[in-house]
Amino acid sequence: MKRSLIIVSNRLPFVINLNENGEPVRKNSAGGLVTALAPSVVKFYGFWVGWAGNELTEDMTIPESDDPTAIAHKIKPSQIVPIFFSKETYNLYYNGFCNGSLWPLMHSLPTIASFKSEQWNSYVSVNEKFANSTYETVKKFENLTDKNNLVWIHDYHLMVMPMILRNLLDDANITCKIAFFLHIPFPSWDIFRLNPWANEILLGLLGCDLIAFHTNTYAVNFIDCCYHILGARVDRREMLIEYGNKSLVVRALPIGIPYEWFEKNARIAPKPFNFREQVIFGVDRLDYTKGIIQRVLGYERFLDKYPECREKVVFFQVAVPSRTDVEDYKNLKDELEREIGRVSGRFATAEWTPIKYIYNNISQCDLAGYYRDARIALITPVRDGMNLVAKEYVACQIADPGVLIISPFTGAGETMNEALLVNPLEHDMIADAIKTAYDMKYYERKLRMNALQTRERLFNLDTWLESFFEAIDLVDTVKKMQSLN
Ligand code: G6P
Repeated sequence: MKRSLIIVSNRLPFVINLNENGEPVRKNSAGGLVTALAPSVVKFYGFWVGWAGNELTEDMTIPESDDPTAIAHKIKPSQIVPIFFSKETYNLYYNGFCNGSLWPLMHSLPTIASFKSEQWNSYVSVNEKFANSTYETVKKFENLTDKNNLVWIHDYHLMVMPMILRNLLDDANITCKIAFFLHIPFPSWDIFRLNPWANEILLGLLGCDLIAFHTNTYAVNFIDCCYHILGARVDRREMLIEYGNKSLVVRALPIGIPYEWFEKNARIAPKPFNFREQVIFGVDRLDYTKGIIQRVLGYERFLDKYPECREKVVFFQVAVPSRTDVEDYKNLKDELEREIGRVSGRFATAEWTPIKYIYNNISQCDLAGYYRDARIALITPVRDGMNLVAKEYVACQIADPGVLIISPFTGAGETMNEALLVNPLEHDMIADAIKTAYDMKYYERKLRMNALQTRERLFNLDTWLESFFEAIDLVDTVKKMQSLN
């Protein structure tokens, strides 16, 4: 089917840096969002609206890609709509409201969240800017009354934008659906209402036709918020919300990974570890939601409790730098490095380093090798919307299968039942889960991994995209047939 499509997200599908001559060049980004959406933008010759970054200025043009392996290689500069804002706005909007207020609150960590009206105002003005540019881009669509016109907005940076855009489109009599996907959790209503602008955010989201979440729990939390905070009419079974003359279809559409791509990379990735110990592996953006400190403490407990395992395992943690201007992230880095140093110092011998730690980006191909050769993946977020690492690890287990240990407080943990589930807040539980994984015999590992692989191979990224497009195509029918009026 032919579609006119605009993807809107805080980040563009690549980073733009200036080279030594001051000219803009594209740097590949390999995040989940880009991997998921770039192929659709290529397929429908759509547009991508996103923040230009801190280096590109308005007088420069977007460069072509010179890297054929880049995920967004085939997206032309004419398909990119860059949004510019000042360094000060970036601080208030991105470091402030997005990552100092929304991020912790949406992850049910209200004590870390802080709220400042100056930051909120900046968030709204950035959302207005995104809405205006998207509106101008919609006007480039071939047919402004086609019911297949679609704007698909992503993530918590842009939650008030849908209603602003909806009003602009309605005033101009333009037909265009607006969909939203939230890549992080949606908390329960008694947490969400701590946000001083909870009403405004919910009203912003009501500008959509369809809103989708990773899990049913998040979807129901959102419906409950609309009911309790706005007093909207809701149907929890049919997942429909009505408020004034607006109606909104809600869906749980858990994202998948490009399974075969990881499997293929696992076949060609170089051998990463040249030591004989079994590897307990973790890879995360350096974020307090990921439970990395808890993981180190759980590992320490494991070495304490099971001394016979010392010198037989290595805990290998990759922490990818993230949001380095935000205070809580800086503090986390210091604390993590202190803890890793302390635990290493306690147990290391002349021949053995109990923890190996990388603070850097790593290539996707190297990553596939780490996954493949790690005997245990230790994934312990205190909260995580989905967690693609768990799925990627599973896809890369192409030989002697390893064991996945995962926190139930992740979207992935809700379905990956054959993994070992562990509450990351209790160190003994982590220690015991590592021991169980360490002792697990081949046959059990194989049984569990086969089941995990079958599910992830089936519910992969393509399935997610298909289910999204199916849901958006059915939106009008659902609204008509299931209206609560
Ligand atoms: C999470 C969010 C994404 C975000 C990514 C990286 O996965 O859901 O929207 O892009 O983290 O964070 P950053 O702040 O670097 O964009």
